[in-house]
Amino acid sequence: TPDKSSTAIAFVYRGTLVHSTPKEALQILEDALLGVDSEGKIAFIGEGNESQKLSEVFRFSPSAVTQLDQHEFLMPGMIDTHIHASQYSYAGTALDMPLLQWLNNYTFPVESQFKDLEFANKVYTQVVKRTLRNGTTTACYFATIHTDAALLLGQITNDFGQRALVGKVCMDRNDAVQHYRETSQESQDETNRFIKELLNRKYPLVKPVVTPRFAPSCTEALLAQLGATAKNNNLHIQSHISENLEEIKLVKELFPKSESYSDVYHKCNLLTDKTVMAHGCHLSDKELALFRETGAALSHCPNSNFSLCSGLLNVRNVLNHKVKLGLGTDVAGGYSSSMLDAVRRTLDGSKVLTIQDREHKTLTFEEVFRLATLGGSQALSLDEQTGNFQVGKDFDALRVNVAAPGGPIDLIKYEEPQIRLEKFLNLGDDRNIVEVFVAGRKVVPFREA
Ligand code: GUN
Ligand code: FE
Repeated sequence: TPDKSSTAIAFVYRGTLVHSTPKEALQILEDALLGVDSEGKIAFIGEGNESQKLSEVFRFSPSAVTQLDQHEFLMPGMIDTHIHASQYSYAGTALDMPLLQWLNNYTFPVESQFKDLEFANKVYTQVVKRTLRNGTTTACYFATIHTDAALLLGQITNDFGQRALVGKVCMDRNDAVQHYRETSQESQDETNRFIKELLNRKYPLVKPVVTPRFAPSCTEALLAQLGATAKNNNLHIQSHISENLEEIKLVKELFPKSESYSDVYHKCNLLTDKTVMAHGCHLSDKELALFRETGAALSHCPNSNFSLCSGLLNVRNVLNHKVKLGLGTDVAGGYSSSMLDAVRRTLDGSKVLTIQDREHKTLTFEEVFRLATLGGSQALSLDEQTGNFQVGKDFDALRVNVAAPGGPIDLIKYEEPQIRLEKFLNLGDDRNIVEVFVAGRKVVPFREA
């Protein structure tokens, strides 16, 4: 047997665990024991009746064990695969225009203010705290074109203990708001500086992500340079694709030699197994096959797609094509920063498709739960670290109390774990999220709060 005594057990939970595996959208472990070591990794998962044996092998004392109550469970932290930290200040407003007009009238003027680090500090602190309270243990962020503000976002996620991919936005094309744009050279140089400085800081849970905003904001030369940068440094890539029909038409005009929107990115080496593209509402089956081949993932952002009247992604079809898929809030095109909202909007969208076509196979809440957790980790290529409860993975988890006092859910009796999860997903909010852990560290409640 391996030496289990080398890393000490920091704490143990005993009670109901719910999570997903590649085989099972919902796996329930009742009266389970889950041990976390001093490095924040899951050291063991066992059944309650093995308690004595586990405590001998892993040498923890009874006082290290926290017993969950009958209304509680642990679930994996949720993974927001697409969120604009820089748009948080106007979340919940400005949803009266389609995408391209929305960008020009609301988004670019606000994002240009992140030149001011004091403003950036305020907004970025708020969004990191809010998403953590909402149970987002991992977030894939867009910042703005401003390198120092994007580095500050990395620092804030590190300080609060959120796992994050952080992207300095690249755009060397913007006719509408001309002061919010870079030259191609600046974009490339500043991306290199961003990557180098962020990596130098050695934040254990924060990684840089190469971030061309989307094809219409970038010249082909810049896209190709960014593809090369990502490849040479083995980095993550994020952007937007096929969100809205007017946008797709614009891409056809700007890149006449490309056979599809996906082809624009593919030609520039931007579709890799570390790529996540937001939306994809209007991708053809041929383009989905290209995603599958390259290993590129999609981030489904239903609130945004409804709010900006962009489109309705057929998630079932994406899953049938075996394309990696996670969920995203896409703040502020999406008005909610909560992944629970993304879960609900995903279910709504799937039901709309069933209303339109009775043959459509509606997503189940268990499947959508998996998309919000394990699916997100796969979409971000972080599934070796997070996404479910597996020995050796980091302990990224929510302690949920469905019957939290003062919370939004009333229970009149004991409910089975599957019902507790369903109630939480449909009716719950941050009042039900009693504790949040990232890599074994308790990040909610905030220590300074
Ligand atoms: N496409 C390019 N930029 C953006 C953005 O900021 N939000 C959304 N929803 N789509 C985009
Ligand atoms: Fe977006």
